[in-house]
Amino acid sequence: MKIFKCNLCGKIMYQLNDVKTPTICCGEEMVELKANTTDAATEKHVPFVTEGEKAGHIMVQVGEVEHPMTEEHSIQWIACEQDNRVTFNYLKPGEKPVAKFKVKEGVPYTIYEYCNLHGLWKVEK
Ligand SMILES: [Fe+2]
Repeated sequence: MKIFKCNLCGKIMYQLNDVKTPTICCGEEMVELKANTTDAATEKHVPFVTEGEKAGHIMVQVGEVEHPMTEEHSIQWIACEQDNRVTFNYLKPGEKPVAKFKVKEGVPYTIYEYCNLHGLWKVEK
């Protein structure tokens, strides 16, 4: 999936199709976010996936060491992309940085998360 950010106002957008024209915000081209490229603690940002009790159910925590969830620094959402489906789980400060998703067994999927200070992170399964 493609996620873009405006470095002026902070708006984040998810592109739903593959059109290549630039997305303009605040008079400038929005920047595509590249996962796992920020210099930050990987153990607090890379989504940590465990199998749920039922087949096809997964639990995601950000990260293997729990990420802070304060007003100033928090995980804003966790998303699961598989096949033709993307599911977003939005989070608020004070909540635990966790999400549950249902996935098709045997089909690869990617989990993304977005930290307001440290950007986009993902893990492929
Ligand atoms: Fe962070």
